[in-house]
Amino acid sequence: MVQKMPMVTEPAQTKLTESPLESIGSLDTKVVQSLPKMTEGCRVPVYMDIQKTFVPAEVVSIRELDGVYEFYIHYVNFNRRLDEWVTVDKMNLKELAPPSSSSTSSASSNNTQEVPVIPQPRTVPPSTTTKNTAASSDISAGNTTTFFLSDDADSLNSDLSRAATLPSLTNFPAATSATIAPTKARGNGNTHQSGAHSVTKVKNINLIHLGRYFIKPWYFSPYPEEFTTCPVVYICEFCLKYCKDLDALKRHRTKCTLIHPPGNEIYRNGTISFFEIDGRKNKTYAHNMCLLAKLFLDHKTLYYDTDPFMFYILTEFDAQGFHIVGYFSKDKESSEDYNLSCILTLPPYQKKGYGHFMIEFSYTLSKLEGKIGTPEKPLSDLGLLSYRRYWSEAILEALLKHKPKDGESDYPSLSINDLSEITAIKKEDVLAALQNLNIIRYQQGSYVLSITKDLFDNYQDKRRLRVDTKCLFWTPKIATKPANQFQTK
Ligand code: ACO
Ligand code: ZN
Repeated sequence: MVQKMPMVTEPAQTKLTESPLESIGSLDTKVVQSLPKMTEGCRVPVYMDIQKTFVPAEVVSIRELDGVYEFYIHYVNFNRRLDEWVTVDKMNLKELAPPSSSSTSSASSNNTQEVPVIPQPRTVPPSTTTKNTAASSDISAGNTTTFFLSDDADSLNSDLSRAATLPSLTNFPAATSATIAPTKARGNGNTHQSGAHSVTKVKNINLIHLGRYFIKPWYFSPYPEEFTTCPVVYICEFCLKYCKDLDALKRHRTKCTLIHPPGNEIYRNGTISFFEIDGRKNKTYAHNMCLLAKLFLDHKTLYYDTDPFMFYILTEFDAQGFHIVGYFSKDKESSEDYNLSCILTLPPYQKKGYGHFMIEFSYTLSKLEGKIGTPEKPLSDLGLLSYRRYWSEAILEALLKHKPKDGESDYPSLSINDLSEITAIKKEDVLAALQNLNIIRYQQGSYVLSITKDLFDNYQDKRRLRVDTKCLFWTPKIATKPANQFQTK
């Protein structure tokens, strides 16, 4: 039997109160007056729509809109993509607690306000308050509400009458990135989130429009300040330039002739392609890719110096061109065997197997380089789930293909090292996957794998998008071992 994988951010289901939301509004004034003032870092149970109950939360930021205070709250034990702005009527103020000493130190130093916590009628339109459906997706709830289809892409493309026919696979010339002004230089710093200023913990982009989709961001991304007040940031799906409105995007599209990401198309199988982009040669694209990715990546470091990275953009082709589905980046050199730095499947394409496909692609490149690889840490909750799944499948596939040599018993012996060599998965990850599959046992002084037929069948049943090495046109810059030492399929 396949062991059920634990949900990494499975919330602690602390049921705080059964009282319906309405009763909070009629809170006794005497209680309110005796409560401490609300500041960033305060803890208070907040009614969470998707859980349909009150959940412990921390106030990250406070703002005032037309006389109404709003509180950006983080639900403790939930992923930050669920953080949202709420009004006080969603809070159980009876249990309001002052900031703990650790949260006060990490709270914003220049933006701490104290506000009275008397419930106020909500006057702000719901779109700016609690109904952040983008955030309302956690692992168990799925990510189905994070995007919706837009007609703008069709109108854009018909305006420009730039229907594409699938060209033959060639090395497209690199884009002329000079047409897009780079955003203000911010050095090579990063936006690592832990302990970061509270500003970077608050989602700053309301909605993006990309190709056929409107997508709700999950996290903060350092787009220029003036974009944070736009109801929608319009992004060119081919060069990733960001515009303040649809007209600006339309004007841009009259000049931007791209119908695919810049760089070389290195893989094509049917309508699926990969484009390889050098972060040094296509700085603007790489920079825009990082900004877009950061909207969905919380704890990864965002490098402004994109020179050390290659970017692999996964696209799907149709009559309008090669639409971005996701990407992964990779260090050109890694002393820690990293073969993937960041990975993203854009929300409209998630949970369809593209993440698995990109991970397989990253290991295929490692095999061609004659290297063992591992993803850069830390992994996100969704990243960990996807990697566990990939590692398990790759290892079971290797075990299935492995036949006993002449003279060997029916039980072929295979070391962790062998599995690592066959799959290009780092030894530590092989071991973690075997443990996660719960198939490794210590028996009579040695480790044995005990695998049921069910487990094999279950993994083989999966109909997956797979990397076909015949469709890959790529040679590594420097291969450390002969590529044929690894199996690339
Ligand atoms: N809930 C439960 N399991 C999930 C979910 C989910 N929401 N998403 C992925 N998985 C697991 C499943 O086990 C799935 O296997 P299955 O198809 O057998 O069920 C497996 O992951 C692979 O799923 P895919 O459909 O191939 O993955 P997807 O295209 O959705 O991409 C990714 C996964 C890239 C992690 C995506 O969720 C994403 O972009 N998330 C936001 C950015 C992020 O967190 N990136 C990883 C950061 S770590 C790093 O960059 C090294
Ligand atoms: Zn463009």
